[in-house]
Amino acid sequence: MTTFKNFLSEKGVQEDLASVLLTMAESFKSINAQIRTAEVGKAGSSNAYGEEQLALDVLSDRLIQDECKKNSVIGLLASEELPEEMKIGDGSFGVAYDPLDGSSLVDVNLAVGTIVGIYDLGEGGSFIGKKGDEQLASMAAVYGPRTTFLVATRDGEGVYEFTLKDGDFVLTNDSVKVEEGKMFAPGNLRAVNESPKYFELVKYWMDEQYTLRYSGGMVPDVTQILLKGKGIFSYPPYSKYPQGKLRLLFECAPLGMLMEKAGGAARDGSVRILEKSLEALEQRTPIFVGSKDEVRRCEEYLA
Ligand code: F6P
Repeated sequence: MTTFKNFLSEKGVQEDLASVLLTMAESFKSINAQIRTAEVGKAGSSNAYGEEQLALDVLSDRLIQDECKKNSVIGLLASEELPEEMKIGDGSFGVAYDPLDGSSLVDVNLAVGTIVGIYDLGEGGSFIGKKGDEQLASMAAVYGPRTTFLVATRDGEGVYEFTLKDGDFVLTNDSVKVEEGKMFAPGNLRAVNESPKYFELVKYWMDEQYTLRYSGGMVPDVTQILLKGKGIFSYPPYSKYPQGKLRLLFECAPLGMLMEKAGGAARDGSVRILEKSLEALEQRTPIFVGSKDEVRRCEEYLA
């Protein structure tokens, strides 16, 4: 069994980056433990973007902050739960994360996840102005019947899955590849009322007898495409969210990197997600992510 730590040294991942990746894997263990045991109550507060915040979001965010503060190479954090960047030291690494994506699914016991993008920001840097292509690594943890994460590094080949076993993350899949196949996770179906083009696209998927696999959590939904090796996840814009709902820095860029590294695609309808420059921490984007041909089809239908 290859532990994550051994994997990083076998792959020759640069020491500081490896330490950040291990820090995040430790956070996933603590969040996993909290999800299994914590009360699922309301914290009575809203997050920076006016969404209802469950206690577990707050806890998960703090657990990541605490873990990152132990690692001196990390200087800056950006969390979906924080209104601003948080300087925690002088290190040049920046970690952007969504501590508990899909947290409203915890009380009904569906899978949820943590999403992470890691950058080298240099001294006094910021996430603003960065592109997903500049991520040194990205990770997506899923807390479901099992606790797993997917990871890819910019300078390394491939996407890898690790699974928590007896307190350690061990390698369980070293060939995560996305090809073609008929599976769809159609987000924001409300948009079909406003967009005849999206309606036609969804109708195409149904007419062609695609398998519907949609949980309502972006991390498990996109992870599923990565592990089954096929399919499409869509979240188009509509009147309530003219730029889409999902966030570029915290959700779309890291998951887009994993998808591209596995051979798939991630686009906003016309542009690669990873080429979009971050103008504001809370920036949203439409997203079509999955098999290359499926992403191309989305763009053709919605053009
Ligand atoms: O906020 C993120 C998220 O919960 C994703 O995990 C999920 O894909 C999406 O929102 C679901 O959005 P909606 O509630 O509009 O269906």
